[in-house]
Amino acid sequence: MSSPPFVVCIPAAGSGSRMDSGIPKQYLPLAGKPVLAHTLSMFDGMESCETIIIATDDKRRLDHLLAEYPLRKDCFIVQGGDVRQKSVANMLAMCTDDEAIVLIHDAARPCILPELILAVVHAVEESGAALLALPVRDTVKATDGRYVTQTLDRNTIRLAQTPQGARAGIFRNAFAEADRDGFTGTDDVALLERLGIPVRVVDGLPSNLKITTPADLFLAEQILLRHGRS
Ligand code: C5P
Repeated sequence: MSSPPFVVCIPAAGSGSRMDSGIPKQYLPLAGKPVLAHTLSMFDGMESCETIIIATDDKRRLDHLLAEYPLRKDCFIVQGGDVRQKSVANMLAMCTDDEAIVLIHDAARPCILPELILAVVHAVEESGAALLALPVRDTVKATDGRYVTQTLDRNTIRLAQTPQGARAGIFRNAFAEADRDGFTGTDDVALLERLGIPVRVVDGLPSNLKITTPADLFLAEQILLRHGRS
């Protein structure tokens, strides 16, 4: 499938406090190399990926990783923020061509597949903004913390994954508006949604998990093995 060129922003500045590890989760070993090296190599190997931007709060550690796992693409490193949204805003500031297609993809999702990335790029090209999101298998309950308040219609629900994408100008404007309004979203396209910008949904896969707890590393290793990437 041919694809328009795109830029990818990889937020990689979190500490990953749910991992119970002294090392930030993006640097933990997974099938022989750090989580972040897997994520970067997936984008680096894609013809239509033109530029990789990484946000970090530990430039020395990132430089070390890039020396061991060099990238072929143009790569820019920016300072991470205290919250993910700030890390992403700092990367978007580098994307000065308003029309460029920009994807944002968590460093901690190393099992992403090129066909999913391309599906999001195509959806952004067609519709202006898109995200990967997982259909829900289980029945979903709303609760007040103690009791069920409602059973939600799972057919209308998706779990947001990354990549999430839009044209650079649209993203930068939405992040600036959110900053002005003091709004913090739990994902990137939420900042577009609040401005009424339509966001296309592309079905994600359970294998595109975000490394969050130690058990996820075991699962991710099995997935990479199955994908022939370990
Ligand atoms: O902590 P969480 O799992 O939500 O992090 C998702 C992604 O955002 C990770 O890849 C992490 O490195 C990144 N992040 C960041 N800057 C922060 C917090 C998280 O770049 N301040």
